[in-house]
Amino acid sequence: MSTFLIVSTGTGNSLYVADRIPHDGMCFTEDLLDGRCTIPGDTDRLGLIFPVYCGGLPWSMRRLVSDVLAERDNRSLGYIFAIATNGGLPLYALHDMDRTLQDSGLALSYGNTVRMPDAYLPLKKKAVTDNEAEAIAAKAEDRLRTIISDVQDEKIMLPHKGPFARIIRKLSSISMVPGKQEKLTVDSSACSRCGTCISICPMENIKEEDGGIVFGDRCVSCFACYHRCPERAIRFPGASGQYRGLVETARLRRR
Ligand SMILES: Cc1cc2nc3c(=O)[nH]c(=O)nc-3n(C[C@H](O)[C@H](O)[C@H](O)COP(=O)(O)O)c2cc1C
Repeated sequence: MSTFLIVSTGTGNSLYVADRIPHDGMCFTEDLLDGRCTIPGDTDRLGLIFPVYCGGLPWSMRRLVSDVLAERDNRSLGYIFAIATNGGLPLYALHDMDRTLQDSGLALSYGNTVRMPDAYLPLKKKAVTDNEAEAIAAKAEDRLRTIISDVQDEKIMLPHKGPFARIIRKLSSISMVPGKQEKLTVDSSACSRCGTCISICPMENIKEEDGGIVFGDRCVSCFACYHRCPERAIRFPGASGQYRGLVETARLRRR
């Protein structure tokens, strides 16, 4: 039996969850999309671990399923499971995954959600404190144990479709496409040019130009750069605090 995990993550919550699930190999979605990683041919159990974005799938995970998995020879796959990390409102993300897999000729066997500390700033503006994050992560332990045992036993558990599933799936797929991030700025007097933001941006959307940090037009608003800046030099209007996350920043480096 060979289990391979595909992980989509901004601030590391989904990577934290993936680390806990026994596996033989793991790749970030972006590395698979760019051909820097491939799913081994003998994989028979595939895990898809991702954050809920706007009640649905992150852009990279949606593309991964519809472009990479749909094109692959998947005859060896016997068990596909999906784990959606979220800030307390997973809505129809698992249903979205189920439908996206179906559209690519694949079938989900098991889906579950885990509430994790929420890194999204536009709504609350205040980042979760270390204590709050610890309490939420401690609560997630029970769910994680259940998931690990369910996946080990190849339990079948399919998400159900709610009344607004179609609308939210559509909304999420439209709103979560990469775009220009106008609101994140860099305080150049605080920035030490350490390159952390550049190396952890999952979209490779941050560059150093003329000695300053600039954002491109592929931001997915994951807020990894904001939360992981060691100098707190990345700013978002009205936002305070940083969610330090559950995995080392070095684990989020893409290059
Ligand atoms: C752009 C964006 C949209 C989000 N939308 C939702 C949502 O609809 N429901 C929810 O419960 N959490 C939502 N969240 C919170 C994330 O799902 C949650 O923090 C997740 O664990 C982050 O995973 P990551 O650290 O692997 O990126 C959102 C976060 C971001 C950045």
